[in-house]
Amino acid sequence: MAATSSFVKWTVFLVIFTSAFALSSSKPTKCAGETCKGVEAIPDWDYLLFVVQWPESFCLYYNASRSTNGDQKCIIPSGVRDWTVHGTWPTKIGTEGPTNCNNTWTFDFSKVKDLESQLQKAWPDLLSGSTYDSFWAHEWDKHGTCASSLPALYGEHNYFGSTLKMHSHFNMDSILSAAEIVPSKTSNYTRDAIFNAIKAGAGGMPDLTCYQKNLHDGSGIQQYLAEVRLCIDKTFKPMDCPKPSSKHVTRTAYYEPCSSKVPIMLPPITA
Ligand SMILES: *[C@@H]1O[C@H](CO)[C@@H](O)[C@H](O)[C@H]1NC(C)=O
Ligand SMILES: *[C@@H]1O[C@H](CO)[C@@H](O)[C@H](O)[C@H]1NC(C)=O
Ligand SMILES: *[C@@H]1O[C@H](CO)[C@@H](O)[C@H](O)[C@H]1NC(C)=O
Repeated sequence: MAATSSFVKWTVFLVIFTSAFALSSSKPTKCAGETCKGVEAIPDWDYLLFVVQWPESFCLYYNASRSTNGDQKCIIPSGVRDWTVHGTWPTKIGTEGPTNCNNTWTFDFSKVKDLESQLQKAWPDLLSGSTYDSFWAHEWDKHGTCASSLPALYGEHNYFGSTLKMHSHFNMDSILSAAEIVPSKTSNYTRDAIFNAIKAGAGGMPDLTCYQKNLHDGSGIQQYLAEVRLCIDKTFKPMDCPKPSSKHVTRTAYYEPCSSKVPIMLPPITA
């Protein structure tokens, strides 16, 4: 992705985005009575983590560790062959979150119904057997309700709509393939090569998480690139991700920060 064209596209996006917001920014209707009394203020945060995931790595992880989890199966929908969205996460430097900021604001799919086909393709739930909108509802409850302190992300339609726009703007498939980092059964990549490709293509140093699989013969680990987390400031400009503080390592429930000591694989989507 050429830096200039990417800047132009982004500027155009911001202009459209800002004017769209201006049109729809009439005050939200107030709820009557106690039933939908919202919170007064959202906890402070500094930047957004825009997180995309590599579906095959997620399913490799899921199948290896949770294959007995009831009826849930990790299935990559046939229309999905690219990086998909995990979520947009407001983050305070040096910590995780805040999360779950407004429990009165329950997810209502009808508010994003017009985005449905885009969401299915760009932001699919890879676990079949879960409720149709449970992944989106989860991301909204946990992260979307905290994003609402930024007017451009206030409410479901803004939160999901602007995340979809970031996904097409920061097109991870093009960014990586421009640096010849492509899905492959046989090639592998260094962490630095992936960092540099994303810094060049997206404009900021990301955080990378990997699924680290122990090899059966005990000879070490195999690393699969699982997530790219871009750090985006409150004006939607990419920034270098803050260095993890000693308190906060980007370890997740599933993955580890990618290690520079082991090659990284980007496994082709098989299913
Ligand atoms: C994961 O398991 C499902 C069946 O539960 C299978 O259809 C799918 O291909 C597997 N994916 C990977 C990457 O192993
Ligand atoms: C909390 O949620 C309610 C909807 O239940 C919403 O009207 C209100 O604006 C939210 N509060 C904040 C501070 O975002
Ligand atoms: C990484 O690629 C090199 C060269 O293609 C190969 O020799 C090596 O076995 C690969 N490592 C892994 C862990 O797949």
